[in-house]
Amino acid sequence: MRMPQPRLWLKRLWVLLQVALHVAVGKVLLTLFPGRVKQQLLARSQKTGMTMNPHFSYDNWGPTFFSIQYFWFILKVYWQRLEDSTEQGSLAPNCPVVCLSGQRCNIWDFMQDGWAFKNNVNIRNHRNLQDRLQAARLLLHRNPQCPVVVDTMKNQSSQLYAALPKRLYVLQEGRILYKGEPGPWNYHPEEVRAVLEKLHN
Ligand SMILES: *[C@@H]1O[C@H](CO)[C@@H](O)[C@H](O)[C@H]1NC(C)=O
Repeated sequence: MRMPQPRLWLKRLWVLLQVALHVAVGKVLLTLFPGRVKQQLLARSQKTGMTMNPHFSYDNWGPTFFSIQYFWFILKVYWQRLEDSTEQGSLAPNCPVVCLSGQRCNIWDFMQDGWAFKNNVNIRNHRNLQDRLQAARLLLHRNPQCPVVVDTMKNQSSQLYAALPKRLYVLQEGRILYKGEPGPWNYHPEEVRAVLEKLHN
């Protein structure tokens, strides 16, 4: 359901104020009590597996929190969620996407098997489709068992599926069979596994 423009901008303004407050408070706390903030962030990230990678220590990500770049990204995520067009059981948006061969197609084109993954690789901000295809090729090295497609540069799939930073869906026959919570905090690939296993039994 799309919101009328004036209401959308009011909501965006509200979200902007909330995010600004969150970042300002976070920044102050991080400056005054770096040890305590570190403890809390580490406790939260334990659940997500972010701390499981031995090459990825707190010093790599902790100090980047509450920066200007962090602010813009979080703002983008929450603004995008205002335009979430998906609901479990409802029609799946058939957004245009790009195959890694460069050919344009739509999300529904990948539903012959009854399901499709939406993969979200976060490298640098993609300035053009070439950057984006390049980033997506990294996934192919891991031999995914499903087709990989990327959003077009209009980012319509990302927008309508409220997919930032990452999100899992299971689509079947044009409908949304499963809608996951947004990652990384509430990202549950095991739920997708359960849905798919039930589907194949
Ligand atoms: C789509 O996202 C990319 C970053 O991944 C950004 O550079 C680009 O400006 C976005 N396009 C639109 C139309 O917002």
